[in-house]
Amino acid sequence: MSGSSAPSASRRPALAALALAAALAACAGSIPRAPSTALARGRELYVAKCSSCHALYAPREYPPQRWPGLVADMSRPAKVTEEQARSILSYLLAVSAEGQGVK
Ligand code: HEC
Repeated sequence: MSGSSAPSASRRPALAALALAAALAACAGSIPRAPSTALARGRELYVAKCSSCHALYAPREYPPQRWPGLVADMSRPAKVTEEQARSILSYLLAVSAEGQGVK
Protein backbone atom coordinates (compact mmCIF):
# COMPACT_ATOMS: atom_id res chain seq x y z
CA MET A 1 0.00 0.00 0.00
CA SER A 2 1.67 3.19 -1.09
CA GLY A 3 -0.47 5.99 0.24
CA SER A 4 1.43 9.16 -0.49
CA SER A 5 -1.13 11.47 -1.93
CA ALA A 6 -0.57 15.07 -0.95
CA PRO A 7 -3.74 17.10 -0.60
CA SER A 8 -3.51 20.03 -2.97
CA ALA A 9 -4.18 23.08 -0.89
CA SER A 10 -4.81 25.94 -3.21
CA ARG A 11 -5.64 29.14 -1.49
CA ARG A 12 -5.32 32.57 -2.91
CA PRO A 13 -5.01 35.65 -0.79
CA ALA A 14 -7.98 37.50 -2.14
CA LEU A 15 -6.93 41.10 -2.00
CA ALA A 16 -9.73 43.56 -2.41
CA ALA A 17 -9.67 43.30 -6.16
CA LEU A 18 -12.54 45.64 -6.78
CA ALA A 19 -13.73 45.81 -10.32
CA LEU A 20 -13.02 49.50 -10.60
CA ALA A 21 -9.33 48.93 -11.12
CA ALA A 22 -9.61 48.48 -14.84
CA ALA A 23 -8.97 52.09 -15.66
CA LEU A 24 -5.79 52.34 -13.62
CA ALA A 25 -2.26 51.12 -14.11
CA ALA A 26 -0.53 51.41 -17.40
CA CYS A 27 3.11 50.67 -16.69
CA ALA A 28 2.74 49.70 -13.06
CA GLY A 29 1.54 46.18 -13.55
CA SER A 30 4.08 44.63 -11.22
CA ILE A 31 3.18 46.91 -8.35
CA PRO A 32 0.58 45.12 -6.24
CA ARG A 33 -2.92 46.42 -5.86
CA ALA A 34 -3.76 48.28 -2.70
CA PRO A 35 -5.55 46.26 -0.04
CA SER A 36 -8.16 48.94 0.53
CA THR A 37 -9.61 52.04 -1.06
CA ALA A 38 -7.83 54.30 1.39
CA LEU A 39 -4.53 52.73 0.49
CA ALA A 40 -5.37 52.89 -3.18
CA ARG A 41 -4.72 56.62 -3.07
CA GLY A 42 -1.29 55.98 -1.64
CA ARG A 43 -0.60 53.55 -4.43
CA GLU A 44 -1.73 56.05 -7.03
CA LEU A 45 0.55 58.68 -5.56
CA TYR A 46 3.40 56.20 -5.37
CA VAL A 47 3.02 55.30 -9.04
CA ALA A 48 2.60 58.93 -10.06
CA LYS A 49 5.32 60.54 -7.97
CA CYS A 50 7.96 57.90 -7.55
CA SER A 51 8.45 56.54 -11.04
CA SER A 52 9.97 59.51 -12.82
CA CYS A 53 13.61 58.88 -11.90
CA HIS A 54 13.79 55.13 -11.48
CA ALA A 55 11.64 52.08 -11.88
CA LEU A 56 9.21 51.62 -9.04
CA TYR A 57 10.49 49.47 -6.23
CA ALA A 58 8.11 46.71 -5.22
CA PRO A 59 6.80 47.33 -1.70
CA ARG A 60 8.11 43.93 -0.66
CA GLU A 61 11.63 44.69 -1.80
CA TYR A 62 12.14 46.38 1.54
CA PRO A 63 10.89 45.35 4.98
CA PRO A 64 8.37 47.65 6.69
CA GLN A 65 11.00 49.11 8.96
CA ARG A 66 13.00 50.41 5.98
CA TRP A 67 10.23 52.26 4.20
CA PRO A 68 9.77 55.25 6.52
CA GLY A 69 13.39 56.29 6.01
CA LEU A 70 13.31 55.63 2.30
CA VAL A 71 10.14 57.63 1.77
CA ALA A 72 11.52 60.44 3.93
CA ASP A 73 14.68 60.53 1.81
CA MET A 74 12.73 60.51 -1.44
CA SER A 75 10.02 62.96 -0.48
CA ARG A 76 12.10 65.98 -1.34
CA PRO A 77 13.30 64.89 -4.78
CA ALA A 78 9.82 63.57 -5.52
CA LYS A 79 8.31 66.88 -4.43
CA VAL A 80 5.51 65.30 -2.45
CA THR A 81 3.78 67.01 0.41
CA GLU A 82 4.02 65.60 3.90
CA GLU A 83 0.47 64.36 3.61
CA GLN A 84 1.17 62.67 0.28
CA ALA A 85 4.30 61.07 1.66
CA ARG A 86 2.27 59.66 4.54
CA SER A 87 -0.25 58.27 2.12
CA ILE A 88 2.46 56.67 -0.01
CA LEU A 89 4.09 55.24 3.09
CA SER A 90 0.81 53.73 4.30
CA TYR A 91 0.44 51.83 1.07
CA LEU A 92 4.04 50.65 1.02
CA LEU A 93 3.90 49.55 4.64
CA ALA A 94 0.65 47.69 4.25
CA VAL A 95 1.84 45.67 1.29
CA SER A 96 5.34 45.20 2.64
CA ALA A 97 4.07 43.93 5.99
CA GLU A 98 1.56 41.70 4.27
CA GLY A 99 4.36 40.14 2.28
CA GLN A 100 6.16 39.34 5.49
CA GLY A 101 3.16 37.69 7.06
CA VAL A 102 2.17 35.51 4.12
CA LYS A 103 4.60 32.71 3.50
C1 HEC B 1 14.13 63.17 -8.58
C2 HEC B 1 14.38 61.77 -8.81
C3 HEC B 1 13.72 60.77 -7.87
C4 HEC B 1 12.41 60.67 -7.51
C5 HEC B 1 11.26 61.53 -7.97
C6 HEC B 1 12.31 59.53 -6.61
N1 HEC B 1 13.52 58.95 -6.46
FE1 HEC B 1 13.92 57.25 -5.40
N2 HEC B 1 15.87 57.36 -5.96
C7 HEC B 1 16.44 58.37 -6.73
C8 HEC B 1 17.86 58.10 -6.88
C9 HEC B 1 18.83 58.97 -7.66
C10 HEC B 1 18.12 56.90 -6.18
C11 HEC B 1 19.45 56.15 -6.04
C12 HEC B 1 20.41 56.88 -5.19
C13 HEC B 1 20.01 56.82 -3.75
O1 HEC B 1 19.82 55.71 -3.21
O2 HEC B 1 19.92 57.91 -3.14
C14 HEC B 1 16.85 56.46 -5.61
C15 HEC B 1 16.69 55.32 -4.87
C16 HEC B 1 15.51 54.88 -4.32
C17 HEC B 1 15.35 53.69 -3.53
C18 HEC B 1 16.46 52.69 -3.18
C19 HEC B 1 17.23 53.25 -2.00
C20 HEC B 1 18.12 52.25 -1.31
O3 HEC B 1 18.92 52.70 -0.48
O4 HEC B 1 18.05 51.04 -1.59
C21 HEC B 1 14.06 53.64 -3.15
C22 HEC B 1 13.39 52.55 -2.31
C23 HEC B 1 13.38 54.80 -3.67
N3 HEC B 1 14.30 55.54 -4.40
C24 HEC B 1 12.07 55.13 -3.45
C25 HEC B 1 11.46 56.26 -3.95
C26 HEC B 1 10.13 56.69 -3.57
C27 HEC B 1 9.23 55.96 -2.59
C28 HEC B 1 9.86 57.81 -4.28
C29 HEC B 1 8.62 58.66 -4.21
C30 HEC B 1 8.31 59.28 -2.94
C31 HEC B 1 11.04 58.10 -5.10
N4 HEC B 1 11.97 57.14 -4.84
C32 HEC B 1 11.14 59.16 -5.99
C33 HEC B 1 15.77 59.42 -7.30
C34 HEC B 1 14.42 59.68 -7.20
